Formats: sequence, structure tokens, C-alpha cells
Amino acid sequence: MSISTEDFKTIQKFFLEHTGNSLEEGKEYLVEGRLKSLVYDEKFEDLQSLVSSLVRDPKGDLGKKVIDALTTHETSFFRDKHPFETLKTAIIPELLKSDSKEIQIWSAACSSGQEPYSLAMLIEESFMDSRDWEFNIVATEISEKMLEKCRSGLFSQFEISRGLPPHYLPWFFQRVESKWQIKPELRERIDFRYLNLCTHWGGLQQMDVILMRNVLIYFEDDIKKNIFEKILKVLKPGGHLFLGSGETPVGFEDRLQQTDFSTSACFKLVSG
Ligand SMILES: C[S@@+](CC[C@H](N)C(=O)[O-])C[C@H]1O[C@@H](n2cnc3c(N)ncnc32)[C@H](O)[C@@H]1O
Repeated sequence: MSISTEDFKTIQKFFLEHTGNSLEEGKEYLVEGRLKSLVYDEKFEDLQSLVSSLVRDPKGDLGKKVIDALTTHETSFFRDKHPFETLKTAIIPELLKSDSKEIQIWSAACSSGQEPYSLAMLIEESFMDSRDWEFNIVATEISEKMLEKCRSGLFSQFEISRGLPPHYLPWFFQRVESKWQIKPELRERIDFRYLNLCTHWGGLQQMDVILMRNVLIYFEDDIKKNIFEKILKVLKPGGHLFLGSGETPVGFEDRLQQTDFSTSACFKLVSG
């Protein structure tokens, strides 16, 4: 199933306009591969008819399915380990010294939910003594399919085997047929919401910690700049931002300063 140059351009434009993600020339194979099963599932004759239908109704159900299919959802429990270590040993203990009694954490572009669930499990294990504190975790995603998976809390054995500390399995999961499901009490602790990072960030509180990892790589510089401007407004002064390794707040280094924790991808908001 090969895509014509014209259809590839249409998909590039659609994907950029609706998600901010760039698809460079040469990524035709990726579009073909990722849309193949959608052509089949939605009973289109070929890729060309899917693209024609998308053009007629880009904001409809098909548009959402194309976004689900084209976005990259790679993630795992406790991905990169160091952000979670830093939160456990330095950042959360520091926040607990204040007298606000509330900590707001945002897992942005959370894919299938391993990141916010890792946060919730870490908090449950390490901060049991702070029961009088409210730990609020908001987790957002653009892909409706991923959000559905997040809310279900269902993970395969393979997903469990990628990064989950073994003692967490009996503690936080229950067996459901061939899968593992996060227990309802932990699922209820996370507020999963749809949010497109490239549009208005409505309804978010001021955050103590933002994890926005492995998503900025898909955006052009002007979109990244706009996102960092919004981060400056949503992050509390002195709040912490985690990016993916290799992602940096280019152009905002005066406000988002790299911390001296062992991780290179943690930045603290300083006053301007
Ligand atoms: C590679 S995953 C990263 C998941 C997780 N943050 C991690 O580091 O493991 C990137 C996620 O960003 C989401 N995404 C892409 N564009 C987005 C946008 N404009 N707004 C919100 N999420 C977006 C994708 O759907 C995908 O689930």
C-alpha cells in the first residue's frame, strides 16, 4: 500500500494542523505502515479513499483515528528511572516542607498511562506518612485511544515487564483474564483528560511539577516556543519541569534553569 505524493502532503498538513507534529519528507513509509490497519478496519478501498474522506471531515471520528494511528506512543513504567528517583529523594520531600498540604503534578502527553501510574505508585509507597497531604495527579493526552487505555488501567504482561518493580504487581494490580489491571483505588487517584498541547490549556491548576517528556521532539521550534511560554504560566514559581533526555528549553534557559540533581532533564522555574 503506497501513498501518493499529494496524499502524503495532505496527511502532513492535517497532522501538523491538528497535533503540531511534523512529518518530514521521507516518512511516507511510516504513514503507509501506520494507516494500513485503519484502511482495513474502516473498510476503505485504499489509502487514497481514506485521505479523501479525511479531507471531507477532518474533525470527525476518522480524524481522531488518524491521530491515534500516527502519533508515537512509546512509553514504559518508570521510564528513564532518574526523574522518579529525583522526585522521591529530592523534590517531593522539599515540597512537603511547605505548609500548603497540596501537591499538583501534571503528566503531559502521558500516552498509555505508565508515567502517571508510576507517579501514583511511587507516592503511595514513599509518602505513606503524609496522608494529610493531597497529591493531585493530572494526566493528559491528545490520543483518544490512549486515554481510553489509561482509564482502563489494563496492561499486558509485556508492558508490565518493561520497568515495573516486581513488588508493585501484587500491590497495585489485579489479574483480568490475560492482562493486569491497576486496582480501582489507584486508578481513581489520577485525573485523565484530553489536552492538545498546541491549543489552549484550559482548566489546569498551577503545577508544582510538570513531566512533559518525549513529546517536544515532534514539534517545530515555533510550536516549542509557544509551549514553553505556556509552561511558564502554568508552573508555580520554583516548580520543576522534566523533559525527555536530550530535550531542552531552548530560548528559555534564563527562566527554566537546569537543576543540579543527577538528571540532566530537570529544570526549575526561577523568577524573571
Ligand atoms: C512518545 S510518547 C511519550 C509518552 C510519555 N510522556 C513518556 O515519556 O513515556 C508521546 C505522546 O505524545 C502525544 N502527543 C503528540 N502530540 C501531542 C499534542 N499536540 N498534545 C498532546 N499530546 C501529544 C502522543 O499521542 C504520544 O502518546
